[in-house]
Amino acid sequence: MKTASSSPSRSFLLLLSFTLCTFFLSFSSTFSSVLGDAGSCSASLIIENEATSKPLYWKVTNPTLSPSHLQDLPGFTRSVYKRDHALITPESHVFSPLPEWTNTLGAYLITPEMGSHFVMYLAKMQENSRSGLPARDVERFVFVIQGTVSLGNTSGISNKLRVDSYAYLPPNFQHSLKSDDYATLVVFERRYVYLNDHMTEQIIGSTDQQPLLETPGEVFQLRKLLPAAVPYDFNIHIMDFQPGEFLNVKEVHYNQHGLLLLEGQGIYRLGDSWYPVQSGDVIWMAPFVPQWYAALGKTQSRYLLYKDVNRDPL
Ligand SMILES: *[C@@H]1O[C@H](CO)[C@@H](O)[C@H](O)[C@H]1NC(C)=O
Repeated sequence: MKTASSSPSRSFLLLLSFTLCTFFLSFSSTFSSVLGDAGSCSASLIIENEATSKPLYWKVTNPTLSPSHLQDLPGFTRSVYKRDHALITPESHVFSPLPEWTNTLGAYLITPEMGSHFVMYLAKMQENSRSGLPARDVERFVFVIQGTVSLGNTSGISNKLRVDSYAYLPPNFQHSLKSDDYATLVVFERRYVYLNDHMTEQIIGSTDQQPLLETPGEVFQLRKLLPAAVPYDFNIHIMDFQPGEFLNVKEVHYNQHGLLLLEGQGIYRLGDSWYPVQSGDVIWMAPFVPQWYAALGKTQSRYLLYKDVNRDPL
C-alpha cells in the first residue's frame, strides 16, 4: 500500500526534476562552461521512474481500492451478485484456511452455488506451506500471481513456478505445491468430464512462451494456456487489450467464464449492467449472459479467462 500511495508524489518529483533538467539544459547550451555533463539528465529520469520496475501483476494483490483504503467507508463494496453474473472485488474477499492445504489461506470467488460447474479461488501460501489434493476426478489449474512455488509429482522432479507460470494437473494426479515464502495463486478446479479413452496430461508453462493466436475480426491479443485438443474440457485464455481497444462482438454463448483482471482497467458490460473494473477484480459469467469489454486508462488490460470447451452440453 505504501508504494501505491507514494506514487503520485513520486511522479510529481519526476516532473519537477524533468522541468529543472530542461531548464538547466537550455541554460547550459547558452553557458556551456557552467554545466559539464548535461546528458546525464535523461539517465537519471529512467532510474527514478520506479513505476516501470513494479513486479508483473502487483496490482492484483495491491489494488487501487484496496480494503485498507476503504476502512473509513464501512460496508462499501463494488461486488455485485446477480442470477447470470457476478463481480467479486478485492474488498469483499474473505480468506480462511483452505481445507487439505497447510499454512494456506483461500478465498473462494466462484463456486457451484452461483451456478458454475467449476470453482475459482485465490490461495495465499505462507511460510512452509503445501497444497492438498483436489477431490476424486477433479482436475486443477494453477496460475502464479505473486511469489514462487515448487510443484512436485510422483516422478520426484520438481518445477519452480514463478509469476506468470502455470500448471494443469489431470484428475487423480498426485502432486504437491510447496512454498517457503508468501505466494499467491489463482486456482480453477472442475470435475473432469471423461470422453471415450481420452486423458489429459500434466502441463507446465508460462504465458510469455505461448504464441499469439489469430482473432478474426478482433483487435485484442489472445494466448491459450492449454492445448486446444479434445481431451481438455476447459481452456484458459490470456487476453490483452491496449487502452481504447474493445471486443468487437458482444458475445452471447453457451460457455461459462471465470475471469481475473491481471492488469489495467476498463468497463465490463454484463447483461444490461456496465461495470468499471480494475486489476484484482473477478467476474463470473453464466452461460448466455451478454458480455463485452472495453479497455480504458493508461496501461494495457490483461485478463485471464476460464472457458469450458470440447464437450456436448447435453
Ligand atoms: C512429473 O513432472 C515432470 C517434470 O515436469 C514430468 O517430466 C513428468 O512426466 C511428471 N510425471 C508424471 C507422472 O506426469
